[in-house]
Amino acid sequence: MVLVQSQMFSRAIVRIPSKSVVNGLCSNNFGPPVYEQAIEQHSEYVNALKKCGLDVIVLDPDEDFPDSTFVEDTAILTPDVAIITNPGAPTRKGETKNIKSVLADFFQSIEIIKYPGTLDGGDILVHGNHYYIGLSTRTNEGGAKQLTKILDAHGMSASTVEVENGLHLKSSVAYLDNNYLVALEEYAILPQFKKFNILSIDTHEHYASNCVWINGFVLVPKGFPRAKNTIEDAGYETIELDMSEFQKIDGGLSCLSLRF
Ligand code: GLY
Repeated sequence: MVLVQSQMFSRAIVRIPSKSVVNGLCSNNFGPPVYEQAIEQHSEYVNALKKCGLDVIVLDPDEDFPDSTFVEDTAILTPDVAIITNPGAPTRKGETKNIKSVLADFFQSIEIIKYPGTLDGGDILVHGNHYYIGLSTRTNEGGAKQLTKILDAHGMSASTVEVENGLHLKSSVAYLDNNYLVALEEYAILPQFKKFNILSIDTHEHYASNCVWINGFVLVPKGFPRAKNTIEDAGYETIELDMSEFQKIDGGLSCLSLRF
């Protein structure tokens, strides 16, 4: 079996939460986030990225878009090409408008997912040169086809996974490295993921399935001890972060940055 190392990252793009974050889209009854706490938690997140060795590009808040701190949904960054998405939620479509100019400083080749295709970055799970595309309420077949064509043209491959539970594919699945995949138990049994060493997360700790491998560290949300132990027992050093205010609006650790 070939063990696929995750690519080492050198940079991340983040966007400071806007005051309008209190109006972020949500599918739960946790209530709106507290803006000041969201700012504090975001600042700790940036510190964690720096601890992982990343240069962090911090974008100003965008008040027009309550969910704009979740920059991961706006682009897919591969070694050769950056792809600007067309987010599936109507209130999030305009979030991509400022991303292209930021990415143009780092990527010579930039592609765009176009209507009627929709695609959120949170639905894209990367394993080496292969991209798993979650078909969700945000990412449709058209978006998946466009992305597959772009990846194919750049020597990469893709396949789709139905997202039956959770907002995005990466709400429930995270690739670490060396063949380790963190997965909510019902995703852990999917045939597509059979080849991985699965670190299974039970339903009570579903939120912790969204963790992020960065240069050997794994960012995990605070308050999910079994998931944290499972990841540490596999040999990873974790960095625990309070994500309470982002969890209230269905946002996870991966959503808060674009890493490349
Ligand atoms: N609140 C994050 C999202 O729904 O996209």
